[in-house]
Amino acid sequence: MKLTGKTFVYGIIGYPVKHSLSPLMQTAAFKALGIDAVYVPFEVEPENLGEAVRGLRALNVKGFNVTVPFKENVIEYLDFVDEDAEFLGAVNTVKIEDGKLTGYNTDADGFLKSLIEEGVELKGKKITMFGAGGAARAVGYAVLKGGAKFLNIVNRNFSKGKIVGELLGKRGNVLVFPLREDSVATLLKDTDIIINTTSVGMKPDDPLLFDYSLIPEGITVVDIIYNPAETLLLKAAKEKGCKIVNGLGMLIYQGAIAFEIWTEKKAPVEVMRRVLEEEIY
Ligand code: ATR
Repeated sequence: MKLTGKTFVYGIIGYPVKHSLSPLMQTAAFKALGIDAVYVPFEVEPENLGEAVRGLRALNVKGFNVTVPFKENVIEYLDFVDEDAEFLGAVNTVKIEDGKLTGYNTDADGFLKSLIEEGVELKGKKITMFGAGGAARAVGYAVLKGGAKFLNIVNRNFSKGKIVGELLGKRGNVLVFPLREDSVATLLKDTDIIINTTSVGMKPDDPLLFDYSLIPEGITVVDIIYNPAETLLLKAAKEKGCKIVNGLGMLIYQGAIAFEIWTEKKAPVEVMRRVLEEEIY
């Protein structure tokens, strides 16, 4: 790649940011479309967030992604925030145009697109979602936006679950349950789609989230974890004849939508998928 005086700069702010796959994925996308741009990681100490965002504007950076722990706090430094980001109180993508910063949240639509790609229908469906963190907010919001009839939120920390339930309850039918074997057993008897948004399953020695023999035969099970490609939850679901979806699609599409916001060009999704698969698996 040839850098010139005209090369546009994009990036990601986070702390830490070393693990981010976005520089790889976005750089590949720019290259595939012949766009003269680079995408770099910016590790920002939390107390420097405001200064960093002002700096990105001053340096005429064209856009950036926002990751942990800044998705919420970045909002106060932006000029405009789109509807999804406003509702979720979290921004993962910023576009800078004429010195003005607009924040977007592409996690929710990224998740929706990944389900559409896999042929998963949400309309009228009953969903049981595990987890109540930042990822759960975006995923829960997405399934209600996609037309799900009921969303059950199951979380270990029940009061945290309640807070997310209260927020998402503004957009649809939402109930919150503690992570207990008896409540999970009852819920799963009447569930079309199970979604894991917790971090359980990332490490090989992680405990099981619940007793996986409770997974009904032939339903859809989604895990937003992409590494490993098949968590124990997805493996168990596969053995029960379920349709399974991992988190790689969400990672790709949140990035693809960000790319499209910045460049107003269709993202080269297959290129983005290929570089990620080569890197991760
Ligand atoms: P993210 O932003 O990726 O969603 P997070 O906000 O730290 O990350 O949320 C992590 C989620 O995984 C939470 O729902 C957490 O449950 P608690 O709210 O009870 O902490 C869940 N989680 C993490 N480890 C867990 C475990 N061992 N068992 C059950 N849930 C777990």
